[in-house]
Order: sequence, then structure tokens, then C-alpha cells
Amino acid sequence: MLSANDIKQKVGEQAAQLIKPGMTAGIGTGSTAYWLLMALGKKVQEGLAIRCVPTSRETARLAAAQHIPLVELNDTAAIDITIDGADEIDPQGQLIKGGGGALLQEKMVAAASRQLVIIADHTKLVQQLGAFPLPVEVIPFGWKQVQRRIREIYHVDSNLRLKDNQPLITDHGHYILDCHFGQIPDAFTLNITLNTMPGVVDNGLFIRMATSTIIGYPDGTIRQSAIVSE
Ligand code: 5RP
Repeated sequence: MLSANDIKQKVGEQAAQLIKPGMTAGIGTGSTAYWLLMALGKKVQEGLAIRCVPTSRETARLAAAQHIPLVELNDTAAIDITIDGADEIDPQGQLIKGGGGALLQEKMVAAASRQLVIIADHTKLVQQLGAFPLPVEVIPFGWKQVQRRIREIYHVDSNLRLKDNQPLITDHGHYILDCHFGQIPDAFTLNITLNTMPGVVDNGLFIRMATSTIIGYPDGTIRQSAIVSE
């Protein structure tokens, strides 16, 4: 049986095969995307000519260390493919992301991409989203108002994400509220409602964005599936 890290490595290496010469590729953030970066770094050193749009400062740092050419989102008209991890994946391919705090940039890069391929181990597959606390990125000014509003509307508690006992500051200068929904029966509506609250920058629901998944299992199996949207 493979360890969780071995599964992530296998999945990341398989996903790297999808990035072909000449492509502009969005590169995700997190421990699964790390293995994608390592595999891509090797291919670039062997001559693969690509340009990558990172989804976080950490990914940009890792990519630069691997000599992977980077391009700004502003400087690319379209991204051929983005490959990224997820915290939860439901049967419709709806996602919770942002466990690593990079949800805003991840969503912007995904939205500019022709394809969004999600790489994960089998533990990320769920019947319904919501057990993983939903990250909501908020403006630091007045963030408690957003917290109160979410409590009033949904009767849901949230925690301000901390790092070293201080509020975690995202790459774009915001805070994150981790919201304990437990169950999210209508992710489509929740995504819209949250994003229309003053003070909310974005949230970790990725709805109708993923086009396929590559999921790894402890026995070494890897399943690649297309997501068919209704
Ligand atoms: C970062 C993310 C990650 O993709 C998500 O947290 C999954 O990470 P990992 O591959 O480490 O489990 O959304 O903001």
C-alpha cells in the first residue's frame, strides 16, 4: 500500500504528462501540486518549453527553484491548462479549495484556463461538500461583520485563520475565515451569496470550473475522469 505522500507523487507525475511543448500552464499550490512541480522541473531541464502561471507566491518560489519559466497572469491571454489540488471534490466535480490559503489566485488562474485538472488522493472525494471548513477570504477591515453575517444567515461558526498566533495574511493582503458548514447542499447558491457580501473577496467553492480529475488510490491505481457539466 502506498503512503499518502507516494500517492500524491504518482498523481503529480501523471498530471505532468498533460503539459505539452509550447503550452502555458497554471500550476497549483499545495503538497500534491508540489510533486507536479518537481516532475515539471525535470522535464523543463530535459528541454520541455513551457510557460507557467503560478497560483501562489510559494508555487512561484518552487517553480523558480526548478528553473520553470514563469509568466504573469496579466501577460497571458489564455492558459491552456491549469493543474491544481483540492480539499474536497464532490460527484459533480464541485470543489472546496483554499486549505493552503491560495484560493483567490487559484480561482483567478483557473477562470482564465481552458481546462482545470484536479489532482488528489482518494481521501478528497466526498458525497457532499462541507466537512472541510470552507475558506472565505475577507478584507481585514471590518472582518467581524462578515463573520456575524455568516452566523446570522447560516448559523455557522467560523475561525479566523492564524499563523504563529497572528491572523494569517494571504498573498494578496487579506484574512481567511474558515467556516464550519458541515454540509453544503447547494454550493452553487452559497458561492454567489458569499461573494456578494461586502468585505468578502472570494471563497473556496469552485463551481463548474474543474474539467477533469486525476485521483490516486493506496493500491497504486490512478483514475482519470472527465467532468461532464449539466
Ligand atoms: C491551496 C489549495 C490546495 O490545492 C488544497 O489545499 C489541497 O492541498 P494538498 O494537495 O496539500 O492536499 O487549495 O490553497
